[in-house]
Amino acid sequence: MNILVTAGATREPIDPVRYLTNRSSGKMGYALAKAGTTLGHRITLISGPTSLDIPPNIDFIPVETAQEMLEAVKANIGGQDAAIFSAAVADYRPSSLSDKKIKKTADSLTLELVKNPDILGSARLQFKYDGILVGFAAETENLEINAREKLCRKACDLIVANDISQKGIGFDSDHNEVLLVYPERTRLLPVDSKERLAHTIIEAVHELRTGTG
Ligand code: C5P
Repeated sequence: MNILVTAGATREPIDPVRYLTNRSSGKMGYALAKAGTTLGHRITLISGPTSLDIPPNIDFIPVETAQEMLEAVKANIGGQDAAIFSAAVADYRPSSLSDKKIKKTADSLTLELVKNPDILGSARLQFKYDGILVGFAAETENLEINAREKLCRKACDLIVANDISQKGIGFDSDHNEVLLVYPERTRLLPVDSKERLAHTIIEAVHELRTGTG
């Protein structure tokens, strides 16, 4: 299969030295890219800045902002059998970018933010993508209900949901526990390394593509 993966957090600049971002190490997305290559698939990884090594034998497309990630996805999603959106995209960006460093003279500072494009939400209608579409959901409550709502709203085949209120897994960790939410069913993948979870997720995506799931 040809698989596109988005990973990492986007960075939305405020001025030349500051930016807004999300908490995300990118480990899950990079583990998906590695597992995909190991299992014989061709991977295109579109990634926000991370401290991780670029996995070998993949097409790697580095981006910074959500807008750049959107453009990269738009240019590369055609011809993909599956697209897995694990990036932590910033929901908002500053409405204007200061070309000079903002001085700390005032006691308070108000930043105006505008909404970023929903990249996963653009896949079906805007990009006319008809392959397997997989989104991620990080939730602190009502995990399955919220994931299922996202599954329908963004026309996905699968949502990989993680409960970020659980300590020791998820953010920055090498381990995670996820719930695979399909239109008709759910499947719990209990706590495991992100590497092993990534393998299982790629296999689940392959089953969806081949109709063997
Ligand atoms: O709605 P929410 O942001 O929680 O959805 C999370 C899913 O949507 C993730 O798969 C994430 O990569 C994707 N997403 C996106 N573009 C955004 C926001 C989220 O692709 N602007």
